[in-house]
Amino acid sequence: MKFERLFEPISIGKVNIKNRIAMAPMVPGGLVDHDGGFTQRAIDYYTERAFGGVGLIISGCTKVSEKVEPRTTLMFVNRRSISSFSELAESVHYYGTRIFIQLTAGLGSVIVGSVIDSGFKPVSASAIPAFWRPNVTARALTTEEVEEIVDAFGKAAQLLRAAGIDGIELHGHEGYLFDQFSTAIWNKRNDKYGGSLEDRLRFPIEVLNAIKDKAGKDFPVVYRYGLKHYMKGFRTGALPHEDYVEAGRDVAEGLEMAKLLEKAGFDGLHVDAGSYDSWYWAHPPTYQPHGCMVDMAAEAKKCVTIPVITVGRLGIPELAEKVVAEGKADIVALGRALLADPHWPRKAREGKVEEIRPCTGCHDGCLHREMYQFKPISCAINPATGRERLYTLGVVTQPQKVLIAGGGVAGMEAARVAAIRGCEVTLYEKGEKLGGHLIAGSVPDFKRDIKRLLDWYVIQLERLGVKIRLQVEVTPELIKKEKPDKIIIATGSTPI
Ligand SMILES: Cc1cc2nc3c(=O)[nH]c(=O)nc-3n(C[C@H](O)[C@H](O)[C@H](O)COP(=O)(O)O)c2cc1C
Ligand code: SF4
Repeated sequence: MKFERLFEPISIGKVNIKNRIAMAPMVPGGLVDHDGGFTQRAIDYYTERAFGGVGLIISGCTKVSEKVEPRTTLMFVNRRSISSFSELAESVHYYGTRIFIQLTAGLGSVIVGSVIDSGFKPVSASAIPAFWRPNVTARALTTEEVEEIVDAFGKAAQLLRAAGIDGIELHGHEGYLFDQFSTAIWNKRNDKYGGSLEDRLRFPIEVLNAIKDKAGKDFPVVYRYGLKHYMKGFRTGALPHEDYVEAGRDVAEGLEMAKLLEKAGFDGLHVDAGSYDSWYWAHPPTYQPHGCMVDMAAEAKKCVTIPVITVGRLGIPELAEKVVAEGKADIVALGRALLADPHWPRKAREGKVEEIRPCTGCHDGCLHREMYQFKPISCAINPATGRERLYTLGVVTQPQKVLIAGGGVAGMEAARVAAIRGCEVTLYEKGEKLGGHLIAGSVPDFKRDIKRLLDWYVIQLERLGVKIRLQVEVTPELIKKEKPDKIIIATGSTPI
């Protein structure tokens, strides 16, 4: 096998995982029901990734209480929604995949602006400006309110374990509520939850203890956090290699945290970087190099013995294998790479790297779509994401002769799908090469993933037997001669 280390089993606590590949937590926006449970579309979406061979799925962040902060569009563990969690667990277990639910204390001061506009006063560790509405000051949670949230975590974990869920990840990264408590710049409290680093970590550690108490000591709990915030100040992030004074957490404190979290009894760490102020770390766009946060995980790994998960543009199998083989992390989490191609793990295991549809790092069809357009999660280059059942590409009963004009990305995708469905496809391109705008778009170094996507299409069309006619313009005469059943015009468009 080409990627041997990636396919070695590993355990988090007592839970055995069949390989070193995890699906990174991603809120399945739009696939959640009114009670906060998973819809059938969400179950199909996760099950497709399990079928594709991922060892561990970590769900998107999920609430345990609505008391101090509204749920908005997130999942929510409660007696009405819990059956959908058990349905999901059964479904992914069928493929030997483990599932952890990522539980969040809440968004706190980074809650979306529209919720604040509707009259809700954001909460946080202390009275700090709301990220999206800086003229609004968040209210500091009372000690009793924090204790109530701790209690709710224990109850949620108990329900989840009974429902067949394998473990929990706590959502402590990127400046969300747990992070607001654990970071000095946001936590100015005088009660037991403020002060030294140990005191600032009291909230997540009490949550850990509540989970272990209610769900069992052997129910594994991972903590996700950023080793470093890359933050120059409120709403001002730092760039890679920039010389600046860290306003949030620096690496030294991040490493101290790793030791304290292990000592407290966490079963694993999921290490990334950044905060809302420097979002391009936690959500690395195409401008960030592949594996841009591996160094953070590698530093943490030197300080602890529990498994360390790394994340961030790790969709190149050779790189993922190298990270594990060099001991920089124990598990590689893939987020968008699994949206673009749910069968990434299976293809890597079979050594069919060129078959993997590569994520281009655009964020257009995933994060942007769900956060700013309020549409269900999907992927710009894999529209079946989030619609797995609907977009099953079955073979047509009456195969058609399909003529496609235009060999850009739309024409190539149309050709690919029509050929998979059993049609006889001819793709005409006026220029010398397939690719259209992808050709010019893939020239800059930081857009090499677009070239990988173009190469993937060329390989797919060849394998599927699509006839490609380069430097041929589609004319009425050509159509009369070829007599296609269907014509698809994919010669480009102008945005409306
Ligand atoms: C659509 C979307 C939703 C996300 N939701 C969450 C989330 O609920 N919890 C979390 O910790 N990270 C979330 N993330 C961040 C991912 O877990 C991951 O860290 C990030 O996408 C970088 O990894 P990647 O390059 O493999 O995609 C989300 C990312 C995306 C694209
Ligand atoms: S929409 Fe873009 S960034 Fe998101 S998964 Fe798809 S290709 Fe990757």
